[in-house]
Amino acid sequence: MIRDVLKMGDPRLLRVAQPITDFGTPALLALIEDMTDTMAALNGAGLAAPQIGVDLRVVIFGVGHNPRYPEAEEVPYTILCNPTLAPLTNDFEEGWEGCLSVPGMRGLVPRHTALRYSGYGLNGEQIEREVSDFHARVVQHECDHLDGVLYPMRVRDLRNFGFSAALFPGEDLGDDD
Ligand code: NI
Repeated sequence: MIRDVLKMGDPRLLRVAQPITDFGTPALLALIEDMTDTMAALNGAGLAAPQIGVDLRVVIFGVGHNPRYPEAEEVPYTILCNPTLAPLTNDFEEGWEGCLSVPGMRGLVPRHTALRYSGYGLNGEQIEREVSDFHARVVQHECDHLDGVLYPMRVRDLRNFGFSAALFPGEDLGDDD
């Protein structure tokens, strides 16, 4: 079921979400189905449970091949519960981000360029990956939502935050993460 996505300003987006304690339950499966439906309907790159008002540490993300951006890196569809992130370098890179909770806008956000993430899948299976660049950026963005952090809070220079249509005139920027 497609759910409403909370918009920046809603205090529920600012909570530190609670860990999942029971895996493989019908309730967790239903939550992930709703998140998947919502992300697909809005053409998002990822979604965190707090964005649909659910105070749990669950994120999903994934970016398939897009013929409009053939050079864009693909990210496998992933369900991640109780994630932990460990940076693999002290390097940061600035990159443009959007968010389904901040529709129509973009901001330039510094992120670690490489990290190891770990967590659990729907049935409690362990997930651990080392990733870089765009994949690492998407994971950092989604996991920030679990700690009540929205990307505009990380924009270093607010001159690099604005409406997509004004920042990138003429570009077809339909996707938010
Ligand atoms: Ni977001």
